[in-house]
Order: sequence, then structure tokens, then C-alpha cells
Amino acid sequence: MVTAPGVRESLFLRACRRESVERTPVWFMRQAGRYMAEYRALRQNYTLLQLCRTPDLATEVTLQPVRRIDVDAAILFSDLLIPLEPMGIPFDFIKGEGPAIERPIRSAADIDAVKVVDPRDALGYTFAAIRQIKGELGGRIPLIGFAGAPFTLASYAIEGGHSNNFALTKSLMYGDPAAWHRFADKLATVVGDYLVAQIDAGADVVQVFDSWVGALNENDYREFALPHTRKIFETIGGRAPTIHFGVASGSILHVMREAGGDVLGADWRIPLDDAWGRIGYDRGIQGNLDPTLLLGPRDRLLSAAADVLARAANRPGHIFNLGHGILPMTPVENVQAVARYVREHSAR
Ligand code: CP3
Repeated sequence: MVTAPGVRESLFLRACRRESVERTPVWFMRQAGRYMAEYRALRQNYTLLQLCRTPDLATEVTLQPVRRIDVDAAILFSDLLIPLEPMGIPFDFIKGEGPAIERPIRSAADIDAVKVVDPRDALGYTFAAIRQIKGELGGRIPLIGFAGAPFTLASYAIEGGHSNNFALTKSLMYGDPAAWHRFADKLATVVGDYLVAQIDAGADVVQVFDSWVGALNENDYREFALPHTRKIFETIGGRAPTIHFGVASGSILHVMREAGGDVLGADWRIPLDDAWGRIGYDRGIQGNLDPTLLLGPRDRLLSAAADVLARAANRPGHIFNLGHGILPMTPVENVQAVARYVREHSAR
């Protein structure tokens, strides 16, 4: 699918290409979700996985924030773990606990049983949703597709759910590097193909979430994560602009850059100007307001947004966002207020 000319010249895509813009584009990670009453209402009737796997529902949820908040991009409603199931790693979401992998990956034999599938066969509902969302957006704003990077996906598959220290993941990585690399390569193959298929279905930009990669130091990132994440960006091969995001990744941003990404995401632990200096001004940056500030008070929230804009200093290539996703208890009005603030205070 060819990106409509209007979308190509949108603020968001121009910022991804580090072209000059009239004002800074803004969107929010997890802009769809439980902080919105209309999302909670749908969740009364459907599970999270039903929302992800039913194109009509995924389309509706993707558009909910677009109707309420002045965002410059929509993001596909899906979840990071979606590709694991066809690879033979089924999971569910448990209320109040998050993801739960049915049979966590713990051994070389488990890894050898993981299937490298063609996402075009296995995940057709995602591409159907993308086509439907693109139709509904009618070229007004671009659509972001996404997937997880190998380290973050592997950590869920190995830990079985959320982890604070990634002990099982690192034990496998250090204890059997060859098996780790086979697993990460399988994930990179599927994720690379999945993102290309999302672009073919109409995604204008894709974001690679390596949310938990901040658990690695630079040497371990280079050895265990970088080659696999790089393979994903090489597979995408410039078909669409790319965003590469991690949490608590300030100390490895300069190496994540080597793996790929036209735009690198930064969280709030590092000032935006420091982060951009580490990344280099030949790449864009996305971020980096602390999502907790959205809980209030309003004056502190807006002065923090002003600080992010000041540190970006109107350089081409800044996309305003949070340092991580919107929290469930966030008042919608505060999200609306930040979007409005960025629109009004970033005019060039
Ligand atoms: O609006 C958007 O940003 C798109 C939707 C989106 C979801 N998950 C929906 C979702 C995106 C981009 C994701 C990515 C995702 N999923 C990541 C990477 C981004 C990040 O937050 O670091 C990760 C690590 C996951 C895995 C995941 N999914 C976890 C850990 C959880 C539970 C945590 C929680 O907030 O409860 C989920 C569930 C999930 N995925 C929800 C949503 C809206 C929770 C809502 C629900 O239960 O209805």
C-alpha cells in the first residue's frame, strides 16, 4: 500500500525524516487503554486478546484517542506479545497481573521447538485491522505499526511474565549463549517479517519496542541484543521510517542507535538534550515526559512539558511523547492539555 501524499507530508512523517516542521508533532505511548472510559466500556464485553484479534474492535480502540485528543499519529491497537502465540508460545493476560506465558521457555530444547512462522499466514487479523484503520483515518494522520525487539520478547517468554531482575533471562543468556542467539534470531526473523507486512498493509511508520533492554549494560547489549535488533531494521530496509524505543536505556542509547532507528525513544530518566547528544543529531528523538506527571498537578505537568520542548530547542527531528506509556489512572483532560500545550508552544 502506498502512503497517501497528505500523510507523507504530515508533521509526524516530516519529523521522522528530520525535515523542518511548523510545530512539534505529538502522540502518546499507550494512548489507547484503561484511562479512557470508552476503552473500559469495551473491556466489559471483550478480553484484551479479543480486542487485538478482531479487526473491527482493534480499529475502534485505535481511533478512540484520535477522537478525544489532538494527536499527530494513531498507533495500531495490538500487543507486543501477539506474535508469540503462532510461534508456539501461548499466553494470556491475567487481570491485575499482566501477561502470563503458559509454558515459559527455559531450555535449549524449548528454544529448538519454537516455530519460525510467516506472520502473513498467522497474524492476518493484524493486517486486516491496519487496512481498516487506514481507511477510517482517510489520510488525516499517519498510522504507527509496532512490534517488540528480541530481548524484550524473549524476556517475557523466558520469565513467563513480568520480572524485576530478568534473572531467568540472563541466566539463559550467560549460561547457554548459543541457545540464546538461536532464540533471539528466530524472534528477529518473525518480527522483521511482521513489521514489513504491517508496512505493506499500510502502516506509515513502525516502532520497535525494546522496553526492558535497560536491564543490560553496554557490553551485554552489544553481545546479546544488538545483532538481533539490527537484523529487524535491516529487514525493514528503509521501507518506512522507524522508531526504536527502550525504557531506562540512557546509558546505551548510543549503541541502540547502531542497531537502527531513524528516531530513538528516550525515557524521562535522562534529560532530552543529554539523550539527543548521546544519540547524535543525525537521528531524531522521541520523548520524554514522565508519564506520572499526567496524574497532576496541571502547572507542574505543563512546566515539565515546556522543559522538554526547551531541551529539544526546535531542532528538526523531535517528536513529543512520554518516556513510557500512559498510566491507567491518568485523567484524560491532562493528556488533552499536554497535546494542546505542545501544539501552542512549539510553533516555529
Ligand atoms: O495505544 C497504544 O500504545 C497501543 C497499544 C499497546 C498495548 N500494548 C495495548 C495494551 C502497545 C503499543 C503495547 C505494547 C506493549 N505490550 C509493550 C511495550 C510498551 C511498553 O509498555 O513498554 C509491552 C511491554 C507489552 C506487554 C504488556 N501488555 C504488559 C506488560 C501488559 C500489562 C501491563 C498493564 O498495563 O496492565 C499488557 C496489557 C496491555 N496491552 C494493556 C493495553 C492497553 C492493558 C489494558 C487491559 O488490560 O485492557
